[in-house]
Amino acid sequence: MLQTSRIRLVPLSDEHLKHEIELDSDPEVMRYLGNGCARTREEVEVLHRGRLATGSRVPGLGFWAGFVGGEFVGWWILQPPERADQGPVEGQAELGYRLLRRHWRKGLASEAARELIRYGFEDLGLTRIFAETMAVNAASRATMKAVGMHHVRTFHMQWEEPLAGSELGEVEYAITRRQWLAHRATEAPGTDIRQRN
Ligand SMILES: CC(C)(COP(=O)(O)OP(=O)(O)OC[C@H]1O[C@@H](n2cnc3c(N)ncnc32)[C@H](O)[C@@H]1OP(=O)(O)O)[C@@H](O)C(=O)NCCC(=O)NCCS
Repeated sequence: MLQTSRIRLVPLSDEHLKHEIELDSDPEVMRYLGNGCARTREEVEVLHRGRLATGSRVPGLGFWAGFVGGEFVGWWILQPPERADQGPVEGQAELGYRLLRRHWRKGLASEAARELIRYGFEDLGLTRIFAETMAVNAASRATMKAVGMHHVRTFHMQWEEPLAGSELGEVEYAITRRQWLAHRATEAPGTDIRQRN
C-alpha cells in the first residue's frame, strides 16, 4: 500500500475488476490503447488475470488501484520490461497509468507516478524507470515530462491493427536513479530558502 497527499494506492485485486471494466469501457480512455475501442467485460476479465500475474513476476512490481477519499480514480503500473529492446529486467521497470475521464487534469496521474518512482528507486533499489506511449498521446507524454522523465527515443513497431497516429511511432521516456536523486537535491535548497524567509 502506498499513499500520496491525495491518493491511496492499493495492490490490484479481484475486487477492483469492476473498476477496470468501467475504465476500459470508455472509448476516450482507450483512444491510444489496444485497438483504440472500448473493451467488453469479457475482454477485461482476461486482461485482469494477466494484470494480477504481473504482480507476481518480480517482487514489489505490479498494478495499483488508486483511490481518492474512497473513490476509485484509476490504476498505475510498475512492471518488468517485456521486450528485448527495452533492456534488462534486472534494475528496471516500466511506469504506466490509466485514469477515469472525469478525473483527468487534476494532477492525479503525475502525483501517484511520482510516488511510484520514489518507491521504485528508494524502496526497490531500481536503477532506471521508463515509460512508453504513442507519439501522438499528448497527455501521456506530458505526464512523463511532468514527473521528470526525458525523451529517450522514438521507434516504430509492427501492429496488426494500426491506430490513427501510429505512423508517427512510439516514444520512450525514462529517468535514472541518478537523475532522480539529482532532481531531489535541487528541490531541497528551495525548501531551505523558504524557511529562511
Ligand atoms: C494520460 C493520463 C493518465 C493523464 O492523467 P491526468 O491525471 O490528466 O494527468 P495530470 O493531471 O497528472 O497531468 C500531468 C501533466 O500532463 C499535462 N496534461 C494532462 N493531460 C494533457 C493533455 N490532454 N494535453 C496536454 N497536456 C496534458 C498536465 O497539464 C500536467 O502537466 P504540468 O504538470 O506541467 O502542468 C490520462 O489522460 C489518461 O488516463 N488517458 C487515457 C489512458 C492513457 O492514454 N494512458 C497512457 C497510456 S501510455
